[in-house]
Amino acid sequence: MKETQLIELLNDMSLEEKVMQLVQAPGGLFDDNAAITGIADVNNSNAIKYKIGSTLSIWGEEKLKKIQQEYMEKQPHHIPILFMLDVINGHKTVFPCPLAQGATFDPELVKEGAQAAALESAADGIHVTFSPMADLSRDARWGRVMESTGEDPYLNGIMAAAMTEGYQGELKDNAIDENHVAACVKHFAAYGGAVAGRDYNNVELSEYALRDQYLPAYQKAIDAGAKMVMTSFNTLDGIPSSGNKRLMNEILRKDMGFDGVLISDWGAVGEMVNHGYAQDLSDAAYKGIKAGVDIDMCSDSYPKNLEKLVNDGMISMEELDKCVYRVLKLKNELGLFENPNRSSKEKADSVLLCEKHRALARKAVAKSLVLLKNDEEILPLKADKIAFIGPYIEGEDIRSAWSVSTDDKDNVSIREGAVKAFEGSGTEIRFAKGCTVLDNDSLLTRDSFHIDNWEETNAELLEEALETAKWADVVVMCLGEHTFQSGECTSRTNITLSLIQQKLLNAVAEVNSNIVSLIMEGRPIELGMVCELSKAVMITWFPGTEGGNGILDVITGRALPEGRLPMSFPHSVGQEPLNYNSFKTGRPKPATGNGDFTSRYLDSPNTPLFAFGYGLTYTTFEYSEVSLDKSQMSSQDKITATARIKNTGKCEGTETVQLYLCDVSGSRVRPVKELKGFKKVSLKAGEEATVSFEICEAMLRFWTDENKFASEKGQFICYIGPDSATTNSALFELR
Ligand code: BGC
Repeated sequence: MKETQLIELLNDMSLEEKVMQLVQAPGGLFDDNAAITGIADVNNSNAIKYKIGSTLSIWGEEKLKKIQQEYMEKQPHHIPILFMLDVINGHKTVFPCPLAQGATFDPELVKEGAQAAALESAADGIHVTFSPMADLSRDARWGRVMESTGEDPYLNGIMAAAMTEGYQGELKDNAIDENHVAACVKHFAAYGGAVAGRDYNNVELSEYALRDQYLPAYQKAIDAGAKMVMTSFNTLDGIPSSGNKRLMNEILRKDMGFDGVLISDWGAVGEMVNHGYAQDLSDAAYKGIKAGVDIDMCSDSYPKNLEKLVNDGMISMEELDKCVYRVLKLKNELGLFENPNRSSKEKADSVLLCEKHRALARKAVAKSLVLLKNDEEILPLKADKIAFIGPYIEGEDIRSAWSVSTDDKDNVSIREGAVKAFEGSGTEIRFAKGCTVLDNDSLLTRDSFHIDNWEETNAELLEEALETAKWADVVVMCLGEHTFQSGECTSRTNITLSLIQQKLLNAVAEVNSNIVSLIMEGRPIELGMVCELSKAVMITWFPGTEGGNGILDVITGRALPEGRLPMSFPHSVGQEPLNYNSFKTGRPKPATGNGDFTSRYLDSPNTPLFAFGYGLTYTTFEYSEVSLDKSQMSSQDKITATARIKNTGKCEGTETVQLYLCDVSGSRVRPVKELKGFKKVSLKAGEEATVSFEICEAMLRFWTDENKFASEKGQFICYIGPDSATTNSALFELR
């Protein structure tokens, strides 16, 4: 539809029709059997379901086609409805959870995964995905770190852009074709800064940290063309995001140049009443519109109050029209006016869980695994008798909490992966569950998790596990968090393995010291004890559909490990929030010694157990010193920083070479180090390569004391190394 036609359509719509374009209600409304969660009476009314502009959390090509037809017949102007869904790390084929995707340090692969997710979900009737989540995540207590790509603004930005491009495809005249979906970057803004890592909590953040560190990743997704932005649940400066005029109108729309649809998070407009920021739902609706929030996701604020607010002159028709127009424009860009059903049964059948997507997911699993320790080169596995022990051997729930549209039966467990991997190899393998994932008294052990004879069951499982461990040459322990321990509303004050799993590991270690521990998780957890008892430790994250295959590929050496940590792993929870790129203090702790009267803990190092960017391969690499082609540059100039990397081990490997910069002094205190680039280099044993990075003035910009992004003249340290702890550096000057 042409822009002029769209405006004509808008002008012809009644006030009620306009208001309802701004209302999103749960898909359960269309599903007679589904419970409608969230908002109450408005959604229960049959009258509303053929009026709302969009719905969420339903999928299925046939089902959505039917709903669309019925809907359009009843909608006075036959305007199609939008179907939105949380396609977070895949639709039917589930890729590793977003934090694991961050660990790949491979934006091309992440983009391909998003393309596959877009193809599957679009084929299944979806128009918009609530992804990417670009929230900077530095507090491992916060369960939603799993949905992010980690603690670094640069890495998050690259990944958010890659996902956006993958979901939306190449835009022609702003249009998204039928093989892609619109991306919604969330949760704007700074949701990851929740105080004490408690979900939905308020955020206390300086304007400097917000601009310099929290906003850049959202910006990258917006620059990549993301059609939608979602508000966050938190406050900033004491104002909830969904009513924050400065944040939305000034920062998001003006400074960051976003001109697409702004949707609230679930119920967040209405929650301004709970925050004590709005007196009632009408006031909340008023404040939402004033902040330019176009769609009210599942609170009763807009549907019940907007018409009256317009009639009373509190909100002008012009203000309302701006919001409605943005929603209509998105529908138009998705081609829905011409083609309201963008898929077909044949298409859905051919792409959902297809072999190509499974193969891609398997590759992504292998690339996301992070090897933390590998003493005596116990990995890749070479033993004749291998025992797989732990609650995750069978587990099919390896998909991560947000994979709502998948079926666990499609997932490949570690057991299945191992059986296939060792078939006909002569290696003997045995399995023993060892224990339940959780302790019976853990908070997660609600009715559905409760096991009546828990102690007895675990005693039997332990006995069987110990027999199996005694028999084996090597034991592969399959441990980790429960899927529902990470994701939304899963904050933890203890970030350890459950006690029952710790007990199992301790007991196994007493009968067999050749332990390889695989840890499934959606956040950094305390791994000190696991590292002490294991010769090798590998983080597998929540790996998704092809988990068992991808993991076996790496531990058998068919694929090589190359993942890197996208978050710092702490010694203990007391270090959280923990990130490598913290602002410099006036009393830095010295590299050696006690550091009396410096910024330190009495009972813990400041540094993490494993640093951001860390990860081993099956070989070793040596770095030369950093060399710079010149030691001074102007703002028009570039410096090339180089290091030679040599594979000094016995086999091939891929090294992720990382560039960090540090601004020695500035008009504001600068981070100790910031990631500014990375390159992967694959080398055979004994092979060497030169890896270079170009440094330009734009990479030196930050949010200065003049409240703008600019670089400042002075000295900079350039680091090239294998992780954020590197000290391999050279000095240069910006003149
Ligand atoms: C979450 C969002 C999600 C939305 C829709 C909310 O509870 O915070 O991330 O996209 O629900 O499912």
